[in-house]
Amino acid sequence: MSIKDAYNQWSNQYDTNVNPTRDLDKEATIQTLSKYNFDSVIELGSGTGKNTEWLITKAEKVVGLDFSIEMTNLAKAKINTSQVYFQHADLNLKWEIENESANLITSSLTLEHIQDLNHIFQQAYQKLKPNGFFFICELHPFKQYTGSKARYETTEGTKELEVYVHHISEYISEAKKSKFNLIEMNEWFDEQVENEIPRLISFVFQR
Ligand SMILES: C[S@@+](CC[C@H](N)C(=O)[O-])C[C@H]1O[C@@H](n2cnc3c(N)ncnc32)[C@H](O)[C@@H]1O
Repeated sequence: MSIKDAYNQWSNQYDTNVNPTRDLDKEATIQTLSKYNFDSVIELGSGTGKNTEWLITKAEKVVGLDFSIEMTNLAKAKINTSQVYFQHADLNLKWEIENESANLITSSLTLEHIQDLNHIFQQAYQKLKPNGFFFICELHPFKQYTGSKARYETTEGTKELEVYVHHISEYISEAKKSKFNLIEMNEWFDEQVENEIPRLISFVFQR
């Protein structure tokens, strides 16, 4: 099943099933981005709007890009404000957004489904205003090495989605190739058990 079809199928339980990765991402996003000032945001893989709801408490405008109609319909049902515009888009293609239009781009739990990070960093650089920030929060590659990946339950059993492993060095070298500077990198653990494998990794890059 394609990634898009899987998210369409997963959507009706995405917000409610037990998902510590989703919950920790929300915490990591809020904790990290509370420190930054931004008013215009592009959210990559906006999904059911879990983080959009928080982003509009700080930003004047958020554009959410996602290729799953079902995930986006849930986001639209939750968020009813002219501050947010959800656009149906495949991130692997050229993003149909004005250049230098945002001072923050965010991507949570989405890049594990994208093979070519170079394309993402190049597009992000074009769409960001000078000095704008690119926040990424993803399943930690150490977790991926142990076989962890996006999955959900159905009546026919567990469905696992197509994923790509991105090593830490890949995020950093691809960002550098697109002329981004690394501002911060953090690892996020379950219940602060710091001798366990971290669940998530986050980066803030600056254009
Ligand atoms: C795990 S969900 C994360 C949703 C949201 N960011 C969150 O943290 O709850 C991943 C989202 O990325 C979207 N996605 C994955 N690959 C994509 C692509 N190539 N283009 C657009 N959206 C994509 C999926 O449709 C899904 O909504």
